[in-house]
Amino acid sequence: MKINNAVFVKSSPQWELCPQTNLPEYAFIGRSNVGKSSFINMITNNSKLAKTSSKPGKTQMINHFLINNSWYLVDLPGYGYSKTAKSVSVGFSKMISDYILYRPNLVAVCVLIDSRHEPQQNDLDFLFRLGKEAIPFVLIFTKTDKQGVVRTKENIDVFLQKMKDHWEELPLYFISSAVTKAGKEDFLDFIDKTNKKMK
Ligand code: GTP
Ligand code: MG
Repeated sequence: MKINNAVFVKSSPQWELCPQTNLPEYAFIGRSNVGKSSFINMITNNSKLAKTSSKPGKTQMINHFLINNSWYLVDLPGYGYSKTAKSVSVGFSKMISDYILYRPNLVAVCVLIDSRHEPQQNDLDFLFRLGKEAIPFVLIFTKTDKQGVVRTKENIDVFLQKMKDHWEELPLYFISSAVTKAGKEDFLDFIDKTNKKMK
């Protein structure tokens, strides 16, 4: 699939205020600074579409982008960061959990994981929560340009191994970089196939 058209539609502070639509929707979530907004810009070929920052906590609302007039990408605030808390291990907000639980046209949640680190408890907790609520999700391992391929593979294997503690089946996953554009085609193929199944 090619993205010919990507338009910012709306920032919403809560799920009830999100655009009313039946179009399929894919939401991006993960720890602050993991690269959610950068990934959206990479797949849409528009470095200015979603706001990015080297400081965590940039995205603060539920941001809808309409793609090819036929589906939505949603950029969500990160979890695991708070300007006010001393600890950075804060959970995800009611804004995020309500959106995920109640948004009727949400097809899948795309959970971004930093490929450089060992499994982080807040990522595992978030995935566990999705599983408990039976919300479909895929994983996107980010920032793979920052290390060698062997290291990336090792870290992903460790993460998936850790998931096996709770999961019988492992999710679909993508290996990505906003710098090299790795993962772009595979991810867009996944969206294309999933959208076709929705019709
Ligand atoms: P919040 O909105 O704060 O939750 O962060 P986010 O997950 O949207 O992260 P964002 O896309 O703003 O990126 C955070 C920082 O990481 C920025 O400085 C990006 O340039 C950098 N970054 C994101 N993806 C990549 C990547 O694939 N490779 C490299 N080298 N840097 C990246
Ligand atoms: Mg962001």
